[in-house]
Amino acid sequence: MTKESRREKTRKRKKPYVPHMAAARFRPQFDWTREDALREYQMAEFPFEVDTVHYMDCINGMRELPDECIDVVIADPPFGIAFNGKGSLYNRNEQLVVEGYHEIDEDYREFSERWIGEIPRVLKPTGSAWIFSGWTNLVDILNAVRLHNLTVINHVIWKYQFGVFTRRKFVTSHYHLLFLVKDSKKYYFNKIEHYPLDVWEINRTYRKGELKNSTKLPEELVMRCIDFTSFPGALVLDPFMGNGTTAVVCKGSYRHYIGYEINKDMRDIIEHNLKQIEAGDLYTPYSERKEELVERAKEKFKKKRGE
Ligand SMILES: C[S@@+](CC[C@H](N)C(=O)[O-])C[C@H]1O[C@@H](n2cnc3c(N)ncnc32)[C@H](O)[C@@H]1O
Repeated sequence: MTKESRREKTRKRKKPYVPHMAAARFRPQFDWTREDALREYQMAEFPFEVDTVHYMDCINGMRELPDECIDVVIADPPFGIAFNGKGSLYNRNEQLVVEGYHEIDEDYREFSERWIGEIPRVLKPTGSAWIFSGWTNLVDILNAVRLHNLTVINHVIWKYQFGVFTRRKFVTSHYHLLFLVKDSKKYYFNKIEHYPLDVWEINRTYRKGELKNSTKLPEELVMRCIDFTSFPGALVLDPFMGNGTTAVVCKGSYRHYIGYEINKDMRDIIEHNLKQIEAGDLYTPYSERKEELVERAKEKFKKKRGE
């Protein structure tokens, strides 16, 4: 058989391309009913205490963890820009911001190398890590990631609605979010959407009158990381708990967590935030969530079939 006739045969065998067909047929790769998710959550066992926050330095804390025990790391470290969230530019009510936000007093590159260096040992081969970074010190994070042999799978941009007012430059309204893995062949990824883009537009939430450490991430943002890279019953590590957003989202979505926070003043806030939620409160099976593109495609095919 000649090369040309072989090519012709393959061309004929291939199904014709039908626009939006893949979207209309989309199903999440892995999914759990509420009952299944609860069962996975209750049955998961760990050789150390989980669903707890330790008020200590995360590097010392991570060193106490056994090898390969963590499914996902979600890390939102101080950005190394002498930030305490109280400057007038940030337009925040100072009375509601907790004292003692711990910024970095050592060289940011060295700090990044030290804490990122703990990740590969504690991460399972199937595990992944999400690291948040502003743009100013991103280079130090990326260098530390490379130094410790983590592979960058995606460089996600979190676009939020507004940033700090400026006069002679553009207003920063995005963060960087690195999706990293230990083993690019083995990492767990649950494709819960047909067409997940790497720019996430999620508004910052400002709850009036709420006491907080000023860098709280939106729960929806943390939930996306957890949804795509973990499963009910998985163990999520957050080295920089802040207000406990990761802990709250984990509890709400049937994931377990362990975390560290150096600022003991955050204890009351974290505990208060955790009390606002029951296990599984935020859990919705993926098949019950609607993705606009998929819904439109399904409508289109329904019409074509005359339903
Ligand atoms: C950017 S905030 C995290 C905010 C968190 N993602 C949230 O949504 O609330 C960083 C936190 O790390 C804490 N921190 C700084 N250095 C630390 C260290 N070495 N170990 C543990 N926590 C630390 C700070 O006190 C601060 O609360």
